[in-house]
Amino acid sequence: MENKKVIFSGMQPSGSLTLGNYLGALKNWVNLQSEYDCYYCVVDMHAITVPKEPKDLRKNTLEVLANYIAAGIDPEQVTLFIQSHVPAHAELGWILNCFSYYGELSRMTQFKDKSKKQDSNAITAGLFTYPVLMVADILLYQADLVPVGEDQRQHLELSRDIAARFNNRFSETFKIPDPFITKDGAKIMSLQDPTSKMSKSDANENSFILLKDDVDSIRRKFKRAVTDSIGIVAYNDEQQGVKNLINIHSKISGKSIEEIVTTYEGKGYAQFKDDVAEVVVNELKPIQEKVDYLLKNKDYLEKIYIAGAEKAEYAARKTLRKVQKKVGFIPR
Ligand code: TYM
Repeated sequence: MENKKVIFSGMQPSGSLTLGNYLGALKNWVNLQSEYDCYYCVVDMHAITVPKEPKDLRKNTLEVLANYIAAGIDPEQVTLFIQSHVPAHAELGWILNCFSYYGELSRMTQFKDKSKKQDSNAITAGLFTYPVLMVADILLYQADLVPVGEDQRQHLELSRDIAARFNNRFSETFKIPDPFITKDGAKIMSLQDPTSKMSKSDANENSFILLKDDVDSIRRKFKRAVTDSIGIVAYNDEQQGVKNLINIHSKISGKSIEEIVTTYEGKGYAQFKDDVAEVVVNELKPIQEKVDYLLKNKDYLEKIYIAGAEKAEYAARKTLRKVQKKVGFIPR
């Protein structure tokens, strides 16, 4: 236990999770849990950087936690918790804000994308400094590895920069974390525009699969998935839509890209799309049943997040105390 490397990762409860969240991150989290000392967090503090209804936030937070467990995260093995339950995240976040530069935060592509979607008077300071809170999440646990999708790569680079800056300014304090980004599932694309990533904030519901979508919706969304007029199931950059569907199939079925391409030789897209939908339906069905069960057992979820927060708090405080001392705060 002592010598295991540490993993930290989190998801925002900004809505229901998508197939992108699942294949890009959650599925890998499950695979890593026995080998590493894992901290998996529901990052509710990140979710309020854009306007959020309190009752939706509460509901989504529990739903995300239930999804973690339903997808196979073992709460006995992993520290599962809710970010706002461990105040050290906000405390280190503040300190690191004072070691982050306006210029570098202005260059964050997610900030640029997200702020474009907001009315310019409604872009909060929280949205701007959001990556610094993420850096605090990671550094508090001295994480070695951070399993995320491709879209988080730039934030991971920022974590490394800020950790190194702090270590240079004072002395060795933070472990420099490495991103853990898998090859094929790292960017699941929109089913309607395969050049942009699948995202729950997309206005077009046909563009994403939610983990809680019913069977008919899943089948319908895959039938409508945008492909091309070439008509051959092949894996290349000219056929982004088909490539995305092959990636989804492969990540779930475990079949290789070549095997999938060979299976559909001489067959059109219709059969292929239906089969991808079935692969997804079969993967999600047991998860959905478990989520329903867990959400009816809120006492059980509560036990898990309370125990998780205690364990997380212990590890987080250790780092925070060191940092506070180094910057010159007088201990109480
Ligand atoms: P979030 O909540 O947007 O997404 C959660 C995880 O899902 C991955 N992901 C995808 N992967 C592949 N294809 C997609 N279409 C796709 N959409 C989302 C994301 O890369 C992510 O791994 N800032 C983070 C949350 C966070 C965090 C952290 C992550 C806060 N603190 C500390 C790691 C460590 C975010 O907004 O992820």
